[in-house]
Amino acid sequence: MNDSVVPELKTWKEVGRARFHESAELHVLGQATYTDDIRELAGTLHAALGLSARPHARVNAIGLDAVRASRGVVAVFTADDIPGTNDCGPIIHDDPILADGLVQYVGQPIFIVVADTHDNARRAARLAQVGYEDLPAVLTPQEARAAESYVLPPMHLSRGDAARAFSSAIHVVKGELYVGGQEQFYLEGQIAYAVPGEDRGMHVYCSTQHPSEMQHVVAHALGLHSHHVTVECRRMGGGFGGKESQSALWASAAAIAAARLRRPVKLRADRDDDMLVTGKRHCFHYLYEVGYDESGRIVAAKVDMVTRAGYSADLSGPVATRAVCHFDNTYYLSDVEIRAACGKTNTQSNTAFRGFGGPQGAIAIEYVIDEIARNLGRDPLDIRRLNFYGRSERNVTPYGQEIVDNVIHELVAELESSSEYRARRAGIDAFNRASPVLKKGLALTPVKFGIAFNVTHLNQAGALVHVYVDGSILVNHGGTEMGQGINTKVMQVVAHELGVDLERVRATATHTGKVANTSATAASTGADLNGKAAQDAARTIRERLAEFAARQYGGSASEVRFAADTVFVNGLALPFGELVAKAYLARVQLWSDGFYATPGLHWDPKTMTGHPFSYYAYGAAVAEVVVDTLTGEWKLARADALYDAGRSLNPAIDIGQVEGAFIQGMGWLTTEELWWNASGKLMTHAPSTYKIPGVSDCPEDFRVKLFENANVEDSIHRSKAVGEPPLLLPFSVFFAIRDAISAVGGHKVNPPLNAPATSEEILKAVSMVNAAVETASESATQQGA
Ligand code: MTE
Ligand code: MOS
Repeated sequence: MNDSVVPELKTWKEVGRARFHESAELHVLGQATYTDDIRELAGTLHAALGLSARPHARVNAIGLDAVRASRGVVAVFTADDIPGTNDCGPIIHDDPILADGLVQYVGQPIFIVVADTHDNARRAARLAQVGYEDLPAVLTPQEARAAESYVLPPMHLSRGDAARAFSSAIHVVKGELYVGGQEQFYLEGQIAYAVPGEDRGMHVYCSTQHPSEMQHVVAHALGLHSHHVTVECRRMGGGFGGKESQSALWASAAAIAAARLRRPVKLRADRDDDMLVTGKRHCFHYLYEVGYDESGRIVAAKVDMVTRAGYSADLSGPVATRAVCHFDNTYYLSDVEIRAACGKTNTQSNTAFRGFGGPQGAIAIEYVIDEIARNLGRDPLDIRRLNFYGRSERNVTPYGQEIVDNVIHELVAELESSSEYRARRAGIDAFNRASPVLKKGLALTPVKFGIAFNVTHLNQAGALVHVYVDGSILVNHGGTEMGQGINTKVMQVVAHELGVDLERVRATATHTGKVANTSATAASTGADLNGKAAQDAARTIRERLAEFAARQYGGSASEVRFAADTVFVNGLALPFGELVAKAYLARVQLWSDGFYATPGLHWDPKTMTGHPFSYYAYGAAVAEVVVDTLTGEWKLARADALYDAGRSLNPAIDIGQVEGAFIQGMGWLTTEELWWNASGKLMTHAPSTYKIPGVSDCPEDFRVKLFENANVEDSIHRSKAVGEPPLLLPFSVFFAIRDAISAVGGHKVNPPLNAPATSEEILKAVSMVNAAVETASESATQQGA
């Protein structure tokens, strides 16, 4: 069929359209089913966890009589009651489900209590008499570094000859920086509901980003095979990385109790327990040394990072690897040495959080560039630009991947002009000269973020597409929905491929009994991988339908077109549903699986080199703040963000992802402070003490745009990932605050500023700048005298 005679064929498309989130209406009406909303089966019991009160101790007695005697209690289980393996660690098996003789952080689960109600279980959990014999505790990454106490061997990546480059560098900037961790603060807490079935079977409803891993962990804990266990997740009320590995504790504890009692058991963490028990974003401490020339170009760089891994490895290795691979951000570093170590501390085992170490790697180099600019009396944007990766030279990363899709120059130029950066800079300088207390600050920061899992084999996905006889379509894939819109995007891909209205397509819950051996929905690859797998499945069905249509109506199968809910074949236009009904009667298979494995990836963890990323996503943001230098309060007056989502699958969802990530990242760098007391207890374990951004913290003037740019890689419809990279955009807020503080000293002094830049931290930096300015003027007076 000739496309020109059927206008629909030219204009019709489903991908690339701004569509509502597939559950938007249910979310708003309160009708979207989360794990805790699933109707409880008769006989359901509720579990709670008994937690360690000590950061590091041998447990010599667990008195549980009062727990057992408490109202409504049905059973109590300790490590000895676990039928299979007492471990829920994702990679290295150092994560006991229940502490067995040794506790390693305040909040570590020691026993499970099961009662008739959630409340009774929680009340009982507090009545245990645990005998502890205290051991020395390590609480900070710096202490871990001093003690060389690590959960994994330290990592090292070097390129060129940093030592030689340093010796010939004209200038060297050297210092340290601390960047705090961050609680995921998903609105729906951790939860699992385990329902025993016949013949040792176990079905677990779980709020998790990784159903297949929950299946494995539950099977091991119960001493079963994977085929005994099914895990299902319709949606999460946010995951943000916190439910990638750390849903395992809740899934396995609920399943252990359910298996022992042969009754359904639900385990729902309340907010305080959730924050006390689970890991967060890793905080990082950096020692850096960077050499640069007169123009501000970096000639040598050395960084030594140590993270607070917590008591076990969890995902700390991959997080540190991503930090190492993102230290360069958008900058070419010819001679570089990067070290990273995962400090073993007696705190929660830290884990994935949006960006997965990428933000922690990149912020260090941004901090350094900011210092270089001030040392040279230049605008930081000029120094950033001078160090950007080149197009065809200076374009190989420290880990050896050639960058072939660099758009940072164009993207930053567009943002610089649309945000009126230069004019506003001049205006802010004038404002600051006239304003002794309120100081304004401005910063533009860039982002480059590698897309794919570093571990090559994780880059695979599967999908199932069913076309039913009535022409309706059901898609199931290995990804999980956590609010990011993966189902909407995958539904759009399927509708596009089959040329049908989006209303025909529905997505079902992720279920290990449907698509097997899935990877975590993480590393921002969810839509990339599962979109491709679903496209593969839909394409197979479309090809079968096209062949059938050509057989039935003449013409060639390759000329059959699917668009606008219609099938165009040999001059005829048939409603999609009609063709499907006929195809069924002709015994055409109307459902298919699909599979995708990202090509071209390889990674050598020993040398830390290879081609770990499929492509890079780029972005940049400009933030303008005003800081009260007497109180440390500040406000984000305006933010402009430009993000490269490739050829966006759904611009409405993508803009929402950029906005959300921006505000979430701003919280990490400014107000969200995790604080442990001297006895190792996390004291900021509720919103009363832990401050995430609220609506009033969002800038009144917030301009988010997508950068027009088709992916050079053959990604799903040439789109790019959007889940995590925009979390780095609010670096601009942090550096705008630092810029405002440095205005106190006429931009002559580099204010030491750790993250989060809380009001206290800002005041401290202001007073250090004031002191430095005073010292400088005193010595100038003395010299003059
Ligand atoms: N958006 C919402 N609303 N809720 C979330 O939990 N998680 C983020 C991001 N965006 C998250 C989110 C994280 S950590 C990742 S890795 C990606 O979504 C995962 O989804 P994707 O790969 O489908 O983009
Ligand atoms: Mo996202 S931190 O990769 O789950």
